[in-house]
Amino acid sequence: MKTRITELFGIEHPIIQGGMHFVGLAELASAVSNAGGLGILTGLTQRTPELLAREIARCKEMTDKPFGVNLTFLPTFSSPPYAEYIAAIVEGGVRIVETAGRSPELYMPILKQAGIKVIHKCTSVRHSLKAQQIGCDAVSVDGFECGGHPGEDDIPNMILLPRAADELTIPFVASGGMADGRSLVAALALGADGINMGTRFLVTQEAPVHENVKQAIVRASELDTRLVMRPLRNTERVLKNGGVDALLAIEREKGDQLAIADISDYLGGVYKKVMVDGEMDAGAWSCGLVAGLINDVPTAGELVERIMREARSLISGRLSSLLCGELETAPA
Ligand SMILES: Cc1cc2nc3c(=O)[nH]c(=O)nc-3n(C[C@H](O)[C@H](O)[C@H](O)COP(=O)(O)O)c2cc1C
Repeated sequence: MKTRITELFGIEHPIIQGGMHFVGLAELASAVSNAGGLGILTGLTQRTPELLAREIARCKEMTDKPFGVNLTFLPTFSSPPYAEYIAAIVEGGVRIVETAGRSPELYMPILKQAGIKVIHKCTSVRHSLKAQQIGCDAVSVDGFECGGHPGEDDIPNMILLPRAADELTIPFVASGGMADGRSLVAALALGADGINMGTRFLVTQEAPVHENVKQAIVRASELDTRLVMRPLRNTERVLKNGGVDALLAIEREKGDQLAIADISDYLGGVYKKVMVDGEMDAGAWSCGLVAGLINDVPTAGELVERIMREARSLISGRLSSLLCGELETAPA
């Protein structure tokens, strides 16, 4: 299957693994890239640019296919040394960067000068258009379903993707709620050039996280995520757990007076506790509504292969036969 995204990034299948804090390490990124998708290392999970350089070198030993690095521009006061992270990416020979969070505008000149392809992840048509205007090569359009930060507009992909398709000229992938061949075909039908997945790739054998995390998502349904930090306009979709219940109780109690410090016990250091130590009630960690569609722990290769097989059979089987006027007896 060729799309503008497979051509842009030189990959076999239009499937991207989005950056994930404490998950996007070389094991997962290389496995996705080896499967013909685009694996992405999470830049800021590496505490320093030197550590990122090492992780890039490690990933290169595990795959000779293209992979990218995620740079999340955080709404923080003490900004990480982004220019140095970018230098590590350039010197490491990585050609693709996924940006997210705040606009990458400030860093576009150095990224473009180094010949890097930039895919910016954002949650609205207006931010997608801004990304296009500042020279991004593609966008990852992240709907309200997504694990992580869905923004404050609450527009699901059934509306957001065709809106993006109507306005954008650069390629884009559908992000948020993508799990299987049905997701890929639907995303293509709505105008996207491929899909980006977070939560689904987290539940694969190569994802280097505690087994408790994978099993919690397998057990969870689409009813088990919660939105936290809404009063701070920094909304995050997370998996419900004891720490999240406590955090939400504080949010309710403080109302408009809520400050980040009130809930920091359930935010700071949580990823290490959850992903490394398997402490599932530690606090807020990202997880999408798509948890309701995840029932197994395949290898990344099996997952990518299954998605492509399902997508092909949906298009050439079920959808084509509908066009021929054949009446279905049961869904494929
Ligand atoms: C555990 C986890 C951690 C994440 N960390 C980041 C991150 O550090 N930076 C980022 O840009 N996106 C992050 N994301 C968002 C994903 O890259 C992706 O956009 C999102 O998961 C898509 O929605 P889905 O989970 O429904 O597939 C994270 C998602 C998850 C599930």
